[in-house]
Amino acid sequence: MLVVDYGAQYAQLIARRVREAKVYSEIVPHTLTTEQILAKNPAAIILSGGPSSVYAEGAPSVGPDLFEAGVPVFGICYGFQAMANALGGSVARTGLREYGATVATAIGEPHSLLAGIPATQNTWMSHGDSVQAAPEGFEVLATTAGAPVAAFVNEAKALGGVQWHPEVKHSDFGQKVLENFLFTVAGLEPNWTTGNILEEQVDRIRAQIGDARVICGLSGGVDSAVAAALVQRAVGDQLTCVFVDHGLLREGEAEQVERDFVAATGVNLYVANEQERFLGALAGVTDPEQKRKIIGREFIRAFEEAERAIVEQAHAAGEQIKFLVQGTLYPDVVESGGGEGAANIKSHHNVGGLPEDLRFELVEPLRALFKDEVRAVGRQLGLPEEIVARQPFPGPGLGIRIVGEVTAERLDLLRKADAIGRAELTTAGLDNDVWQMPVVLLADVRSVGVQGDGRTYGHPIVLRPVSSEDAMTADWSRLPFDLLARISNRITNEVDGVNRVVLDVTSKPPGTIEWE
Ligand code: XMP
Repeated sequence: MLVVDYGAQYAQLIARRVREAKVYSEIVPHTLTTEQILAKNPAAIILSGGPSSVYAEGAPSVGPDLFEAGVPVFGICYGFQAMANALGGSVARTGLREYGATVATAIGEPHSLLAGIPATQNTWMSHGDSVQAAPEGFEVLATTAGAPVAAFVNEAKALGGVQWHPEVKHSDFGQKVLENFLFTVAGLEPNWTTGNILEEQVDRIRAQIGDARVICGLSGGVDSAVAAALVQRAVGDQLTCVFVDHGLLREGEAEQVERDFVAATGVNLYVANEQERFLGALAGVTDPEQKRKIIGREFIRAFEEAERAIVEQAHAAGEQIKFLVQGTLYPDVVESGGGEGAANIKSHHNVGGLPEDLRFELVEPLRALFKDEVRAVGRQLGLPEEIVARQPFPGPGLGIRIVGEVTAERLDLLRKADAIGRAELTTAGLDNDVWQMPVVLLADVRSVGVQGDGRTYGHPIVLRPVSSEDAMTADWSRLPFDLLARISNRITNEVDGVNRVVLDVTSKPPGTIEWE
């Protein structure tokens, strides 16, 4: 099923909801012609919302031919209006905006798209224009205060739509509306599951790699672990993984890769112990961007050295390494224009970023998946929960959570404080409520304290728990005071050199999530 993206921020959400209903979906830009869309042979199409008015100059338009091809189509918000407009209904520029929670009322007994939903339901709206009259042959299913026609359907042609956003959680029965379209109106089957993804990807990887050899980098994060485990499942010993231990990971994370990941997958692992190298390169450096650059540069060098060693081993055995695994996810693909091939390497200041002059062909087994699907595949592959459920962690690691110079002692101290914060958050059962909780050492700041018998002159630790959807914006998490008290007590009691714990209560913007 295809989601045509009219430029709303919701297209990815729609695609995810459709997949949650066990129907495979992909996003295509609205700049595709009807012919190009139909050439992809979709079982059904959803037209997303978008910021334009259907009457605005240059507004993306939809020709009536899209609705005459016999393919079921569902319009959401702008897509709903575009469908009405294309098929001879009327859309008015009322200028009356409905924004946010809005009650939609069914006309008659709820049925078709609204089957199984109460006659009045809370929906999430964001529109200025509204459909005044449905096209001929369409039945009006619901109305709201600002939208006389808020939902319509033409069952015979399998066409329909809603003015509200069923994909957002604030629409109470949004998922049900989507499922009604998919299964009742469009007649699709819910048969796309994590099990299918796994089998399909394993087949694809085998077809791509054949009997060649392949390498991959492990960072300790979810994506690289799941990508590697999938490739391992597909081609076994043809895969070698490289883990560059830069010494900037949190407590227990290197062991998770070296011991737990290997135990769960049986992968061939090449460990490059590079802690000294990174500490040496970072000595005396305090500027955050400088730190990032140094860590990025050393990472690439260390990875290349490891890679050369593995390539030489392969040569000695008369083999060649042809492929490199990359954990690109579907949102990266969509955001970079959806093209195929090597151009889509993650660019986000990522230490996992790899050299530009790639001598390998890329294997990208997660290209079609959203993050939650990657986690589901990871669980299916039997990876440890600590890896699969890991919260986002920046590539440069603790190196950018020490405000000041990075030294072995400071890393040690921060690792202990961070481990306490994480353990207490988990014990409180709040892992899923918090997007991530950077624990930051203000190494260049000292504060006076009184501990035991005397005064101390130690460092503050900052707790930065945030809630977020995508890390672009964030709010500080309102953690329970008792939990904060426990973390603070434990850190000041158990971590030498820290005599103060402070809470960061800044949203993003204006603050970033990380301190550097
Ligand atoms: P900021 O601090 O920009 O962080 O609000 C947004 C998200 O990105 C992560 N982050 C990084 N990830 N390399 C990474 O791989 C980096 O240099 C980096 N800096 C920030 C951060 O943890 C948050 O999830």
